[in-house]
Amino acid sequence: MKCRVATKLFHLTQNKKKIACVSVLSLPKFLLGFNFLRLYSSNEATEMKLLNNNSLIILLLLLILAFTEVSSLEEGYSRDDFPPGFVFGSGTSAYQVEGAAEEDGRTRSIWDVFAHAGHSGGATGDVACDQYHKYKEDVKLMVDIGLDAYRFSISWSRLLPSGRGPVNPKGLQYYNNLIDELITHGIQPHVTLHHFDLPQVLEDEYGGIQPHVTLHHFDLPQVLEDEYGGWLSRESVRDFTAYADTCFKEFGDRVLHWTTINELNVFALGGYDQGVTPPGRCSLPFGLNCTEGNSSSEPYIAVHNMLLAHASATNLYKKQYQHKQHGSVGLSIYTYGAAPLNYPETMKTRVGSRLPAFTEDESEQVKGAIDFVGVINYMALYVKDNSSSLKQSLHDFNIDMAVELTLVGNTSFNNEYANTPWSLQQVLLYIKENYGNPPIYIAENGQMTPQSSSLEDTSRIQYLSSHIEAVLHSLRKGANVRGYFQWSLMDLYEVFGGYNMSYGLYYVDFKDPYLNRYPKLSAHWYSSFLGGTLHYRSHALSSAI
Ligand SMILES: *[C@@H]1O[C@H](CO)[C@@H](O)[C@H](O)[C@H]1NC(C)=O
Ligand SMILES: *[C@@H]1O[C@H](CO)[C@@H](O)[C@H](O)[C@H]1NC(C)=O
Ligand SMILES: *[C@@H]1O[C@H](CO)[C@@H](O)[C@H](O)[C@H]1NC(C)=O
Ligand SMILES: *[C@@H]1O[C@H](CO)[C@@H](O)[C@H](O)[C@H]1NC(C)=O
Ligand SMILES: *[C@@H]1O[C@H](CO)[C@@H](O)[C@H](O)[C@H]1NC(C)=O
Repeated sequence: MKCRVATKLFHLTQNKKKIACVSVLSLPKFLLGFNFLRLYSSNEATEMKLLNNNSLIILLLLLILAFTEVSSLEEGYSRDDFPPGFVFGSGTSAYQVEGAAEEDGRTRSIWDVFAHAGHSGGATGDVACDQYHKYKEDVKLMVDIGLDAYRFSISWSRLLPSGRGPVNPKGLQYYNNLIDELITHGIQPHVTLHHFDLPQVLEDEYGGIQPHVTLHHFDLPQVLEDEYGGWLSRESVRDFTAYADTCFKEFGDRVLHWTTINELNVFALGGYDQGVTPPGRCSLPFGLNCTEGNSSSEPYIAVHNMLLAHASATNLYKKQYQHKQHGSVGLSIYTYGAAPLNYPETMKTRVGSRLPAFTEDESEQVKGAIDFVGVINYMALYVKDNSSSLKQSLHDFNIDMAVELTLVGNTSFNNEYANTPWSLQQVLLYIKENYGNPPIYIAENGQMTPQSSSLEDTSRIQYLSSHIEAVLHSLRKGANVRGYFQWSLMDLYEVFGGYNMSYGLYYVDFKDPYLNRYPKLSAHWYSSFLGGTLHYRSHALSSAI
């Protein structure tokens, strides 16, 4: 037996005979094993003795603990190890790639206003990657990689420039074109997942790149923000539902996967607590430099209304569209926690009157109003109790949580993420255990590198390969994962860092007036993996931890 020569991937031997290769993914269980032993030894001396005298027993124990994983890791993994309907894709969002911000009737969203106020170091999405004009070229790039699916968002203010009311024909045309372009580009015969009762005829018919569409990606029409304070007002629920209705009606014959609101937790905290994402509201001492806002109460109000809007749109879909369109609707959350399906008791007690209440009706609406959960995961946090923070008189969400959070690794918005695939696995299994094992799409996961760095993005390959491996492990442990979307298809405008940091499989030359795209090594890697020619061994995971 040969193990791959890589740090921290080692042989397990019995009587000097190699019997298994072990990767660090098995380590938590190993450590559990040691803790178990520690329980039975009163001091270190006996523990050492135990280790020496009973090495065979320990070995067996470790083997039992680790063997299920060991057997698969030994051979590495490939595309074929995933279930037949499992979808691999890549994603972007409207404001981050489309450009054409003032073209063809589009109006500003809260993100345009935020970016133009200089909050992304002066960078804006005015031109971005110009996908609005280059969508055909970009679909070709997806075909080159061999993507099953593309996750993108619809710009509300492009489709409905007044936030509600008449549809903008040019906006409608653009999304119809994009969706048709995706669908007509059949790439691989094994596309499309089994989703609920998706009829085979649709599966056959839609054998191209599946559009996974997000309705709100930080970009509420500014006109609604001005009129009634956007998500702080209940009126947003009505307008969002009408917008969703338009999307279901116009695109739902071809779009089977809808995400209502992207990262509503980050959107609420960034936008209403810290003031670092649109609409940039906050109050001292929690956020700096906001002209308006209330960090103690507004994040809760915004989330509350977004949950209601999500539930309302989802229930509309279920009542009026699902029986004929056969699609599904979900919500995506940035994970360092999980989505509240109802507010937990501790949260109600701590937040008190700042937490809006659900009426019984609303509670019924919100509960279970989800066909799938979109998981967004990039990094891991260490969590430690800090209940003393509750003594402070002024609270925001962070104080209400009463914990101390520390990033794992040297992660910052100028640094690459620490490679922590276990954190993704943990989230997936946590959702399985605690929320009734709903279908999950990993809506975003990817590595950040300086935009100016080399096309040889080996750290991105390491990151992606080890996270995809973690998804495979989670599947084998019973998590109901249906797909994985790498973020992002190409370098694009980011709310933090503008164009300085990038996640793309394709490099975009933003200095070139044609905004040419160039594949990075990671694009080739993903393509080989999806094509089934890459039999991936798990060294990246080991060497990165
Ligand atoms: C807040 O504004 C002040 C004065 O304009 C500036 O010096 C400071 O850097 C700003 N802080 C943040 C976090 O933007
Ligand atoms: C924020 O809202 C809370 C609760 O509604 C209120 O007690 C507090 O005075 C408000 N703070 C500011 C800065 O407006
Ligand atoms: C606990 O929370 C308080 C209040 O926010 C903060 O001042 C303190 O630094 C925190 N303690 C630790 C160990 O982070
Ligand atoms: C963390 O990142 C900073 C900035 O890139 C760098 O200067 C520092 O050396 C890094 N620290 C460690 C422990 O890697
Ligand atoms: C990006 O880098 C440029 C040049 O160093 C800098 O001026 C700008 O502020 C940076 N943008 C962000 C959002 O950090």
